[in-house]
Amino acid sequence: MKKIVFVCLGNICRSPMAEFVMKEMTDELHIESRATSSWEEGNPIHRGTQAIFRKHAIAYNQHKTSMRMTREDFLTFDLIIGMDAQNVLDLKAMAPEGTENKIVQFAEKSVPDPWYTGDFDETYSIVREGCRVWLKRIN
Ligand code: 4NP
Repeated sequence: MKKIVFVCLGNICRSPMAEFVMKEMTDELHIESRATSSWEEGNPIHRGTQAIFRKHAIAYNQHKTSMRMTREDFLTFDLIIGMDAQNVLDLKAMAPEGTENKIVQFAEKSVPDPWYTGDFDETYSIVREGCRVWLKRIN
């Protein structure tokens, strides 16, 4: 099974949103999410993102906590998807040699960070559309 990981700055807003939206769309991929930073390490999914899951009846793991990308993660995952342009730059700087080519950006435009915008609905509609595109692209 192909292994993909969504990555954002904190792993509490955008990348877990993409993880569970995409899981709702397919059982044929191994999907996880991570952070580029350790700022939120061990913290749960933001309550704004959890509210989006409940609003749209998306199943999710309430116990999932923020984890930073490890060296092992770069080796293990087949596709490493940064949610914005800065995430991609940070991932490329962290990537062990030979893994840089697995790193891509979620969409041409950076996914707005609701941590700053406060608009989880806007981010959800962009994430949902982007996941649909990725599903077609991967399958
Ligand atoms: P995320 O949002 O990268 O979409 O999870 C953020 C979460 C936390 C922080 C920044 C962005 N922070 O500064 O702690």
